[in-house]
Amino acid sequence: MDTIVLASRNKDKIKELRSTLAPLGIELKSTYDFPNLDEVIEDRETLEGNALKKARYVFEETGLPALSDDTGLEVDALDGRPGVYSARYAGESATYQDNLDKLLDELAGVDSEDRGAQFRTVVAFVTPEDTYTFEGICRGEILMEERGDGGFGYDPVFRPIGFDQTFAELDEATKNEISHRGKAIQKFYDWMKAQSS
Ligand code: IMP
Repeated sequence: MDTIVLASRNKDKIKELRSTLAPLGIELKSTYDFPNLDEVIEDRETLEGNALKKARYVFEETGLPALSDDTGLEVDALDGRPGVYSARYAGESATYQDNLDKLLDELAGVDSEDRGAQFRTVVAFVTPEDTYTFEGICRGEILMEERGDGGFGYDPVFRPIGFDQTFAELDEATKNEISHRGKAIQKFYDWMKAQSS
C-alpha cells in the first residue's frame, strides 16, 4: 500500500498527515486530487458512523485505501453533548464563536469540579480487505471564560488535564502531541508501521 486518500479538504490536516506518513513511504492524496468527489453529508449519529461514511465513499469512488476523521467535544455535565453535533451545536451555520458562547451559556452555574469534558476523535480507514477505526481521547475541563487566541473551535475554553494553559494558549506542537486527533493518528501510524514491517 503506497497511496492513501484522505477524505478531507482541510489543508492543515492534509499537511500534518502527509508529513506523518512520509517516513513510511506512503503518499497521501486528498479530495483535492479527485475534484469529482461530492461533499459527504455528516448525518450519522456517531463519530464512528460519520468517519466510516466518509472513508467508505472515498474508497468506493477512487478504489484507493481511504482515511477520514470525525471529532466531537463531549461534556460530562451535558451527558456527552454536543458530541457528534459539535460543529453545528448553535445551529446549521453556527460560527466557532456561536458554538463556544452557547457552551458557556449552557454551563453557567456549573461548578468547576463538574466541568469535566473530553475531545474524542475517530479515524476510519477503509481498504479493499476491511475497515478499521482508531480512537483518540483528550480529557480536560471547560473553563468559565475564554483564554488564548491560538487553535480553533472550542480551544479557548478547553484546558487539558496536566496543563495550566488552554488548547488556545498551548503551542501547536504541544497540542498536536497530546490532542485527541494526535492520539488517534498516532494509533493509526503505529498500526500502519506494524503492517509494513
Ligand atoms: P471535525 O470533525 O474535525 O470537523 O470537528 C468537528 C467540530 O469539533 C469542529 O467544527 C470544532 O467545532 C470541534 N473541534 C474539532 N477538533 C477540535 C480541536 O482540536 N479543538 C477545538 N475544537 C475542535
